[in-house]
Amino acid sequence: MRVLVTGGAGFIGSHFVKRLAATGDEVVVLDKLTYSGNLANLDGVEHAFVHGDIADPIAVSGAGEGCTAVVNFAAESHVDRSILAAGDFVRTDVLGTEVLLEWARTGGARFVQVSTDEVYGDVSEGRSAKEDDPLQPYGIDAVITRGANTYGPFQYPEKLIPLFITNSLEGEPLPVYGDGRQRREWVHAEDHCAAIEFVLREGASGSVYNVGGDERENLEITERILELAGADPGLVRHVEDRPGHDRRYSVDSSRIEKLGWRRTISFETGLAETFAWYRDRRDWWEPIKSGEYAAYYREQYASRLGQ
Ligand code: TYD
Repeated sequence: MRVLVTGGAGFIGSHFVKRLAATGDEVVVLDKLTYSGNLANLDGVEHAFVHGDIADPIAVSGAGEGCTAVVNFAAESHVDRSILAAGDFVRTDVLGTEVLLEWARTGGARFVQVSTDEVYGDVSEGRSAKEDDPLQPYGIDAVITRGANTYGPFQYPEKLIPLFITNSLEGEPLPVYGDGRQRREWVHAEDHCAAIEFVLREGASGSVYNVGGDERENLEITERILELAGADPGLVRHVEDRPGHDRRYSVDSSRIEKLGWRRTISFETGLAETFAWYRDRRDWWEPIKSGEYAAYYREQYASRLGQ
């Protein structure tokens, strides 16, 4: 293997480079040589060295040439420094990691992130964090919601429901991706927001809450919209699928239901009300569709629709 080791001139990184080099694997070290990086850590160790920043995509792709994996040790790691000034931490730990992920994704390389037990936050005496525990870095009182597909009035008409409603009102084609048999859960914006309010007021710190909806197939929704509009079913076009299109999303909402949340708007009622809103509020969406949207729409759909 040829392995890219970022931050390989640092403390743990240099130990790792020595270990990998001893197994006979090829090692490329990419290191910015900040205050804590030291080339002397790698004295006498067989490796290729590139001086550069993981937040620089050109440095990453240059150093990563021919590598099938990256192990990321490149990080600002000293808590006291982060308290004094956080900018370098954001650049290296957040943006730099994103650059490495993108490199690994496009090149099909394995990505190993060397993280820290600090992500679990303060752990009470007598227990030890498990990998699935909530992440609570630095004791931030954070809660997360994971919502299903959301629909309702005021949604930008690039998303399935408002796109298909407004297109059917205009007699324009409805571009169904692939076979249209993909399934999603749909939650009305009002119900979704009620869930977010529950989590804001009553969610347990560090917890994640799924917010689910009614499961429907894309084609079912398409047909229902055509019916509501009284539009020609011939408007449906099965077009080239979205790359990486997931077939089905489904979430278990029992955790938030224990807080007392329940959906109040059925999909049938919500869709009919949403349809009526778009029908009556052309003043809201017509200006949108004639603006920046038109260029996006051409780029996204023109060749799919053979235009
Ligand atoms: P979308 O509304 O973009 O939401 P998300 O990607 O967050 O799920 O898409 C919902 C479903 O509708 C998804 O399966 C893709 C499909 N879809 C189409 O078939 N045609 C379209 O033009 C769009 C925008 C979406």
